[in-house]
Amino acid sequence: MLATWATCCIAFGVSVALLGVDQGWVRFSTAKKSVESADKPDEIEEAKRISDSLMQTEIAKQCLEQPDEWKRIPYFWSQNSRAMKRTFVQGALYGPDKLTAEPLVFLNRDRKQFIVIAHIGNSLCGHEGIVHGGLQATLFDEITARPAFWNLPRSVALTASLKVNYRRPALANQIFVFRTSLEHMEGRKATIKATMEDLKGNVLSDAESLYVSPSNEKLVSDNSSLLKMIEGVYPGAF
Ligand SMILES: *[C@@H]1O[C@H](CO)[C@@H](O)[C@H](O)[C@H]1NC(C)=O
Repeated sequence: MLATWATCCIAFGVSVALLGVDQGWVRFSTAKKSVESADKPDEIEEAKRISDSLMQTEIAKQCLEQPDEWKRIPYFWSQNSRAMKRTFVQGALYGPDKLTAEPLVFLNRDRKQFIVIAHIGNSLCGHEGIVHGGLQATLFDEITARPAFWNLPRSVALTASLKVNYRRPALANQIFVFRTSLEHMEGRKATIKATMEDLKGNVLSDAESLYVSPSNEKLVSDNSSLLKMIEGVYPGAF
């Protein structure tokens, strides 16, 4: 039962994903929360059950059946647990009844389109039973960043703007599909669009963001080798 989950921390990162690709999840032994969760095998089981249900969605099956078109990459890639705990999504929003399992991510061979499949539990609501609009905006920010990272110079991208249209209530405790693509790129600026759908294909919200690769190269270092490493975690297609 999702509701019976206590807080635990199941983390994913480039370094640990290599160990955890088969299970689809892995625990960080250094995170305090995960030490508590080690005594709760039912929570670990539930995380695994949700991971499996993401894999069993039609959209995931379609992507997995077209390995020349879609390549699976990890969602989380923090390289150490301290940094991980400080991030908003991996640290604060990830866990039982929240963002319950590591979302599935598929990268298109054009590296401009991504599909993200995520389950959101009951504990990130605004109105009761409805996923908070701010969480949807956070996920749009995160997810639209991917086409930006994969296309902008030096694979560096900072959000300049984000606009979200809320179209229908997103009921909590279900699986959502985000589709995002690079619409336009000019120099250091990229415009990205995205939709959030339920499994029936109803668009619940959509977003447009503008990402910028900063001109000051000292501000943030070149990130392209990290992306190569991320793509290498699930080797195989293209
Ligand atoms: C570098 O790329 C990773 C993975 O795409 C991303 O999480 C990170 O925020 C990027 N760093 C910058 C400064 O853009």
